[in-house]
Amino acid sequence: MTAGWQWDETLFAGTAAFYRRGRLPYAPGTAEVIVNVLTAGRTSRLLDVGCGPGTIGVSLAPFFGEVVGIDPDPGMIAEAELWADGAGLADRTRWLRMRAEDLPAGLGRFDVVTFGQSFHWMDRDIVPAAVHAMLRPGGALVHIAEWRNELRTVEGLPHPAAPAVAIEKLVRQYLGPLRRAGQGTLPHGTPGDEVAVLARAGFEGPDQHIVRGGQQLVRTEDDIVAWTFSLSSAAPHLFGEQRDAFEAELRRLLREESPSGLFSERQPSTEVRIWYTEED
Ligand SMILES: C[S@@+](CC[C@H](N)C(=O)[O-])C[C@H]1O[C@@H](n2cnc3c(N)ncnc32)[C@H](O)[C@@H]1O
Repeated sequence: MTAGWQWDETLFAGTAAFYRRGRLPYAPGTAEVIVNVLTAGRTSRLLDVGCGPGTIGVSLAPFFGEVVGIDPDPGMIAEAELWADGAGLADRTRWLRMRAEDLPAGLGRFDVVTFGQSFHWMDRDIVPAAVHAMLRPGGALVHIAEWRNELRTVEGLPHPAAPAVAIEKLVRQYLGPLRRAGQGTLPHGTPGDEVAVLARAGFEGPDQHIVRGGQQLVRTEDDIVAWTFSLSSAAPHLFGEQRDAFEAELRRLLREESPSGLFSERQPSTEVRIWYTEED
């Protein structure tokens, strides 16, 4: 998918335990926006690809007859199962450990396929073709991601912002100057060419919906540590024996920035883009 980089199973190894605490949620109301646009129903089936700890699949499960989440990381699948059980959704959700490249895997026909900040990790030809064939005519592919076109400042909020640039610098001191991803490096990041790739696979669209954020959030030092270890580029295994030393230094940095251990943040807006397969 990215020249010179090879996907491997350690991409998100060890991040699952930190993911739900560390990552900012999608903007409140995101699930409702998706459901209203798609008019989902009790007989509808949803496939959540790269489901992580169940972020999208669990929030949409109450509106669907069945949700199947797939992810190659065993920690993520375990977290998704726990979340769905805790939310009383075990009877209508299934979480399977597998790569998107191994679809369709006998999973049948779906009305909706979702990708929550996961598509950029997948093969650009194999995966769109596979999910296109799994969707019913007039079915929807939904791409959900943090909206990048806004300035989020903590001006006027009670606590300082988490020092993202200093954290990145510290990560680089430990892991080297090139962005790490699994066993390789991604000097130029992941691709962002979904529009062209999905058009090539025969999808129509996208329709774009922005779910506005902006709410005040308060984050603790533990949340920021969890955020750091939730990133593929700072996954715990990458630090090897230096993991505890890194965490101690990260906490020192955070306490210097905010002696109270609290940080302010604004809820990011969420971008929902929807593509459709042709009607019969
Ligand atoms: C940034 S997380 C997003 C998790 C969740 N969808 C969300 O919106 O919070 C990306 C997820 O994609 C998964 N992933 C990476 N490569 C994948 C692949 N080739 N097939 C399926 N899932 C993959 C990772 O294991 C990880 O759980």
